[in-house]
Amino acid sequence: MDVALKIWRYNPQRGERELREYEVDAPDWACLLDVLDLIKDKHDGTLAYRKSCRMMICGSCGMRMDGRAILACKEPMKPIVEAGHVPTIAPMGNLPVVKDLVVDMEPFWGKVRAMKPWLDPGYDEVPEKERIVSQQQVNAIHKEALCIMCGCCVSECNSMEADPDFLGPAALAKGMRFVGDARDQATVERLQSYSSEHGIWDCTRCNFCQERCPKGVDPRDAIAKLGAEAVQAGIDSDMGAKHAKWFVTSAKTTGWLRETELVPKTQGVVKSLKEVKFALGLLKHGKVPPPVPPHVAKHVDESRALYDLVKQQERGGADGIVQSEKALAHLALDTDEERDPYGEDSFPRPLPIEKDGE
Ligand code: SF4
Ligand code: SF4
Ligand code: FES
Repeated sequence: MDVALKIWRYNPQRGERELREYEVDAPDWACLLDVLDLIKDKHDGTLAYRKSCRMMICGSCGMRMDGRAILACKEPMKPIVEAGHVPTIAPMGNLPVVKDLVVDMEPFWGKVRAMKPWLDPGYDEVPEKERIVSQQQVNAIHKEALCIMCGCCVSECNSMEADPDFLGPAALAKGMRFVGDARDQATVERLQSYSSEHGIWDCTRCNFCQERCPKGVDPRDAIAKLGAEAVQAGIDSDMGAKHAKWFVTSAKTTGWLRETELVPKTQGVVKSLKEVKFALGLLKHGKVPPPVPPHVAKHVDESRALYDLVKQQERGGADGIVQSEKALAHLALDTDEERDPYGEDSFPRPLPIEKDGE
């Protein structure tokens, strides 16, 4: 088949960026990485990109196709050619470009290192007996352990675009992999560290990381689990944590979100005084409902019953987070068809995290 590609080239010596078009003859089974190899071998040996395994496991070949992050070795070209489309290939976002499609991964690794991505078992002397971890305990971090550190999620993270110091989805997913590990004894220290500035609560919940992760890690779910674990451990001084807690209180008491009270509950009374002018403007335009008497939703009992149910089921912390099962279903079947991804012959169903002494 004849494959055409447009590739953003970057020459670091001259500082020039240019969109070049290539056409190659490729076998029907070729993926994007094969096509790049053909271009490099037969047309332009100066083209730079990373690769290693060609089987979606090393995480080297992350790049953008038509503006979305992909693994080049996971993208079959035949459907694109049949559709008559000429895709545009570019380097991943949110990381400095070194040359053509190669980005500098150092900022990525720096954030992963900041998570202390190693097990802290809480002892120095190695015990004589081996520590057995149950399947149920492994299941709790099953998705996070699938990460291949490709950076596709980081490329798409809009919070990182606004704040390059944000820890980001890959590093935070790695953090959850250790927070949820039954053998790790540094949970509280980890949660405190991950909850600080540029951490858990700076995620805007846009879900782009979740959508683009090629391995079904669902990093946004991992961040939600970290937030829930932090709140459960009483680590809730960040405005994001207070914001989340107010949502629960508000829904439980009146069945709807009382936004008028959201700002003082989240920012504190003193800081909220700065917003008085803005609040008066809203009031003038009829955007603020009168606080008294409080408006209580007609079926508030349903929202309270839901709250009680979650409490009864002891779904605290990470176990209370509803995970994006669709992503796993898609990964398992390579189809958009919906089904239970944890069903027979599929991924083990995640179960509650169990720590020592619980
Ligand atoms: S959900 Fe959060 S971590 Fe994921 S891409 Fe959006 S802002 Fe980034
Ligand atoms: S979470 Fe997914 S997209 Fe992000 S680095 Fe890991 S495998 Fe890649
Ligand atoms: S070359 Fe290893 S993931 Fe694509």
